[in-house]
Amino acid sequence: MKILVATEKAFAPAAIKLIREVIDAAGHQLTLLENYKDVSGLLAAVADADAMIVRSDMVTFQVLDAAKKLKIVVRAGAGYDNLDLPAFTAHNVIAMNTPGQNSNAVAELVFELMLYQIRCGFSGKTGTELRGKTIGLHGFGNVGKYVADIARGLGMDIYAYDPFVSERVMKNNSAKQSINLAELYNKCQYISIHLPFNEITRRSVGYDLLKTMPYNAVLVNTARKEVMDENGLLKILEERPDFSYLADVEPDCKAVFEEKYKGRFIFTAKKMGAQTEEANINAGVAAARQIADYFKTGNEKYRLNK
Ligand code: 3PG
Repeated sequence: MKILVATEKAFAPAAIKLIREVIDAAGHQLTLLENYKDVSGLLAAVADADAMIVRSDMVTFQVLDAAKKLKIVVRAGAGYDNLDLPAFTAHNVIAMNTPGQNSNAVAELVFELMLYQIRCGFSGKTGTELRGKTIGLHGFGNVGKYVADIARGLGMDIYAYDPFVSERVMKNNSAKQSINLAELYNKCQYISIHLPFNEITRRSVGYDLLKTMPYNAVLVNTARKEVMDENGLLKILEERPDFSYLADVEPDCKAVFEEKYKGRFIFTAKKMGAQTEEANINAGVAAARQIADYFKTGNEKYRLNK
């Protein structure tokens, strides 16, 4: 079988080496399409692929139409808002993800952003500390749990809201359950968002939640820009000079931040939460193994489409 790795944002070489080992050992053939710049390259490369590994790459109806032999696509990562699942089903192609494999990298980025911000960008100005401060986790999946683990080490007071996670699981991971989002935002000086992007979460974090955050509020978004209501975000930035927004995902309104709110935001140059060698290896190798296992045994664990 021909397995294509198609990534606009390439994996680390060490990850490719290990992915190749898994594919070779299973008797398949690996093809690479890395750092491609437009969809035409992807359409050509996927034409004779039996399986494909992607990251945030868009796998649309058009891509699936061009892939006449494709049987399975694994998104090496957690979020699958880049996969058109109804189109997968229409083309009889299996979609999978690799939940949890890159979560620690994202969780570490949360603290890299926060620590840099509260030490005033290492400028030498007087900063603040995290010990004893409140942090609220909006979403308590794999990333949220790693964030709680690090926050505990830093001596933070941890709260979480997630309608799909029990109080017991939160307690076992050092977090106190908030009964609703209003309580979480109202209680926590630091909020870290760990939501998937879908039609329910689209623009779900806005002014009404943000306005109740305590003094010197810091909102960290390493999830997706689409979960923010950017009008509400700009409104709170305008009203509250003590409010900061740190994101792994540049907002559409980035130019307004640059013009008006210097020193109160950080945006990474490129989505880089999962961009560590370890996360690339974990997610990339998991994806390769899931494909090899599917071809060998028909295992459909982590299948996303019906
Ligand atoms: C994920 O959903 O797993 C992360 O956002 C990582 O995305 P990436 O593979 O494009 O870095």
